[in-house]
Amino acid sequence: MEIINRIDETRKFVGEYKRNGALGLVPTMGYLHEGHISLIKKSVEECRHTAVSIFVNPMQFASTEDLAAYPKDEEGDLRKCRDAGVDMVFMPEVGEMYPEGSTVYVDEDVIRRQLCGRDRPGHFRGVLTVVAKLFNIIQPDVAYFGAKDFQQAVLIKRMVRDLDFLLEIKVLPTYREADGLAMSSRNKYLTADERKQAVALNESLKLAEAVFEDGEKDVGKIRNAVYSQVSEAPLGEIVYIEILDAYDLSPIERINRPAVVAMAVRFGRARLIDNTVLGDFLWEN
Ligand code: PAJ
Repeated sequence: MEIINRIDETRKFVGEYKRNGALGLVPTMGYLHEGHISLIKKSVEECRHTAVSIFVNPMQFASTEDLAAYPKDEEGDLRKCRDAGVDMVFMPEVGEMYPEGSTVYVDEDVIRRQLCGRDRPGHFRGVLTVVAKLFNIIQPDVAYFGAKDFQQAVLIKRMVRDLDFLLEIKVLPTYREADGLAMSSRNKYLTADERKQAVALNESLKLAEAVFEDGEKDVGKIRNAVYSQVSEAPLGEIVYIEILDAYDLSPIERINRPAVVAMAVRFGRARLIDNTVLGDFLWEN
């Protein structure tokens, strides 16, 4: 497995890999868990070569957020990548990705205003800019993302479409703990009590699915049911609970086409997110 820190060094491997067949990329911020590994395994299975990037991207953290405290485990990450059959890990320093004087960004103007974009201004500009750079540096044929970060996946697909990037985006299901909590690097911030109550996110999404299956199509009513359920976790502070069109995140009142139920809930230091889609939804559309 090649471990590479410099952009120019990636070139020779990328060229060689692409001559041999498809190259898959899994972008990450490290501290890899089973959710990340599920993406990596899928790439290894589907592509001749797999690259993983590990870069805690300062541009997507606000000054008040947890950049400095973001968990790291370089040795563990490299071992997991090696075990999964990864060919190349790209792990640049901040100065390599953002040389002094960088002034060009990738931004989106509509979808980013919803959900996490509201309380994390500038976050998706940071995500899209770094992902665009990673696509240009690694030149993958396929890139893998998790549905856990639903808005991120919608925005990356939109960027690829609107800016004519030549690759395929695959979005894979959220990988969960046995009790349903979505795996996240931020789960490690939870105290034992918070950890127990954090199942409320997934439980409330299952409730939304059940209510929808029973025939309820009214967004306000489904949202109220979800809200009441999450409110029963006393240590959780709801940041948002929204039901939006799953393809473009526009507001809706009734569910006549696939809709995403998305939420962010703060438990102590951890800001947790989760979502589910109501209706038949295909990321390929
Ligand atoms: P990070 O949070 O490390 O996540 C890397 C990838 O793993 C993302 O595509 C994310 O959606 C996916 N992922 C996280 N938890 C998951 C889970 N429980 N099940 C399935 N997939 C999961 O997302 C980022 O990093 C960054 O914003 C990045 C795209 C790398 C840009 O900096």
